[in-house]
Amino acid sequence: MNSEIIKPYSVLWRKCAALLLAGLLLSGCTAHGEKPVTSVKIGIIVYDQYDNFISELMKVIIDEAAAIKDETGVTVNLDMLDAAGNQSTQNEQVRKLIKKGCDVVCVNLVDRTEPTVISELGEKNNVPIIYFNRELVAEDLERWDRLYYVGADAFQSGILEGEIAADAFLNDPSADKNGDGIIQYIMLEGEAGHQDAIVRTEYSVNTIIEKGLKVEKLGYAIANWNRAQAKTQTTAMLLGEYGSSVELIISNNDAMALGAIDALETENIPRTEWPVIVGIDGIAEGLEAVQEGKMAGTVYNDKEGQGRNMLRLAYALAAGKSLEDLPVTEGKYIRLPYRKILPETAE
Ligand code: GAL
Repeated sequence: MNSEIIKPYSVLWRKCAALLLAGLLLSGCTAHGEKPVTSVKIGIIVYDQYDNFISELMKVIIDEAAAIKDETGVTVNLDMLDAAGNQSTQNEQVRKLIKKGCDVVCVNLVDRTEPTVISELGEKNNVPIIYFNRELVAEDLERWDRLYYVGADAFQSGILEGEIAADAFLNDPSADKNGDGIIQYIMLEGEAGHQDAIVRTEYSVNTIIEKGLKVEKLGYAIANWNRAQAKTQTTAMLLGEYGSSVELIISNNDAMALGAIDALETENIPRTEWPVIVGIDGIAEGLEAVQEGKMAGTVYNDKEGQGRNMLRLAYALAAGKSLEDLPVTEGKYIRLPYRKILPETAE
């Protein structure tokens, strides 16, 4: 009698187990909630592919996709787009990438104050969004728990740049060309309203002052991170009222510092009369300029760390893996540290 009772139950149990397994496989999930994935699809949209730093970052991202494939066997299909400086274009691109089946979309916002449409698209379709490089305000990142940010700490870059500039004057008093004990400087700023531009401008100068030096701001120009614009703006300032009185050029990034160097070279200003020039990023040509002594130093913006961690995060989210091994803080942020690059370390 016992066996008669047990038998139907065991058949029923086996059927249930089979159904459960089939259900799990159909839903693409294992019992641990991880998908048995063989490929993931990740959308990447940059604000402007011609930005020097961003184009170097894009190369890191492409290499990282290949590294993940080698390591895990999972194919990371990248769909990379350029918003060409237009926020509405970028919103539409996100919509299309989600429709095309991207598991995660990584967004280098055109306008860091306008993430709402993109975050809502992510939430509505349950597609995580990783913002990168152009930091949005914290409240905008709080609106859904699957929004992330990968970048760096802008404050640190400004402080390190200020330290490089201050040390150049402390180590070589002749850099104060008119010997008045005050550093006359001009500032080359990135975009108006960009977190990095605002913070770097303020903290670089404050750091120089905290190091005990006096400064006088002769002028500034917004050159949108761009070398050609910085060259034009610097030429105007050098040929204009400030002329040879400029002792320091502080640039929010290397591309604009290189534009300032272009201006000095085009105007045939002898190297002995050049102001001290400092930048941020450590792009290839910036590092060369530091090695050649044209720039006093730069601050390395860790594109390798940012690109790799962003893609690892995207992969983990797409494949339903744990984020435990990633340096995520507050459940949302990955920030890579900056470091100083001086002529002796530029290589
Ligand atoms: C900054 C970088 C700049 C520019 C900008 C674009 O972090 O230093 O060179 O690329 O991002 O958002």
